[in-house]
Amino acid sequence: MEIRTLLNQDSLTREDIVLLLNLPRNEASALYEKAASVRRQYVGDKVHLRGLIELSNICEKNCYYCGIRKDNRQIRRYNIPDDEVLKAARFAFDNGFGSIALQSGEIQSDSFTRRISRLLRQIKKIGDGSLGITLSCGEQSREVYQEWFEAGAHRYLLRIETSGKGLYGRLHPDDTRHRWDSRVRCLHDLQETGYQTGTGVMIGLPFQTAEELADDLLFMKSFDIDMCGMGPYVVHNDTPLAVHESLLLPVEQRFELTMKMVAVLRIMMKDINIVSATAVQAIRKGGREKILQAGANVLMPNITPGKYRDSYLLYRNKPGTDESAEDAVKNIEALVKAAGMTIEYGKWGDSRHYLEKRKNTSHQH
Ligand code: 5AD
Ligand code: SF4
Repeated sequence: MEIRTLLNQDSLTREDIVLLLNLPRNEASALYEKAASVRRQYVGDKVHLRGLIELSNICEKNCYYCGIRKDNRQIRRYNIPDDEVLKAARFAFDNGFGSIALQSGEIQSDSFTRRISRLLRQIKKIGDGSLGITLSCGEQSREVYQEWFEAGAHRYLLRIETSGKGLYGRLHPDDTRHRWDSRVRCLHDLQETGYQTGTGVMIGLPFQTAEELADDLLFMKSFDIDMCGMGPYVVHNDTPLAVHESLLLPVEQRFELTMKMVAVLRIMMKDINIVSATAVQAIRKGGREKILQAGANVLMPNITPGKYRDSYLLYRNKPGTDESAEDAVKNIEALVKAAGMTIEYGKWGDSRHYLEKRKNTSHQH
């Protein structure tokens, strides 16, 4: 079938998606252009910012790919004191970011739960509730998700990492802390609690196939997610998965695959929010602009206080570790301009998809 005919179809099958993900470079531009026009039509040309604060790199889990996994003794662990987190949030507000994202390693404890709730309440006071808040603190009980929702978080990002249960098993230890089923249970809980729910995957993992990536997109579609954050897998040397480096696609191809994943998802889910992920920048200079041009509409500038940055190394070449929050703001302007888009300052920039869903359900009552 002609690519253009395929791109205008209402729904894509697994085979269609595989075909698109395998498009040769000279034919992929039609896909990117289509995705950009869908984005323009359904969510516009505005980029929403979420100032990313990496609260703590302490993590109880041992994902084989991640640089801050529990068993990595090579890094200094930190926990940013509340007043510094609040200062970073205030910085986001002062610079017109509509939202922040609080991210940390996964800790399940009462004191951690309470701390996040307290922080959320304090952040909500900044500018009288002006800042939107996305949380990304891993798997938690339904009660914890509920508590944080009531304390003011309204979006939650929990990547499924891969929708393939088999592949998931090869990327994580085989124990009760690392279950694919639990992750799906969490995503359901988040959705039912009322969060704008986001998920995502890593692209270009060892052992991963185009069919599995197609299934990842179909998973997101059938889950009816509101937001997506997905990016390339990037090796971290001090992790168990690093031994499989020879199996990986070259970085340029991993980058192109990421662009295709974003573009196809935009065509499949026209009005969701899609992040142009930071990891892209680790393998391709100017990569985040390209991902915006291929259909993404959200950026997460890192505003973690400088002295902690070097210690949140999930992967090799993580960008911005020597960049100040002020520089991050300046760079983001140039980046968005290069993509032919503009930043939407001072607004939450909620997922249009979520808002439409809400509208439709409230009509029924
Ligand atoms: N490469 C790319 N992304 C990674 N993450 C963790 N380790 C890596 C890596 N080596 C991503 C995971 C996780 C998010 C916080 O960071 O998808 O959900
Ligand atoms: Fe912890 Fe998340 Fe890294 Fe897994 S990916 S080790 S849960 S920070």
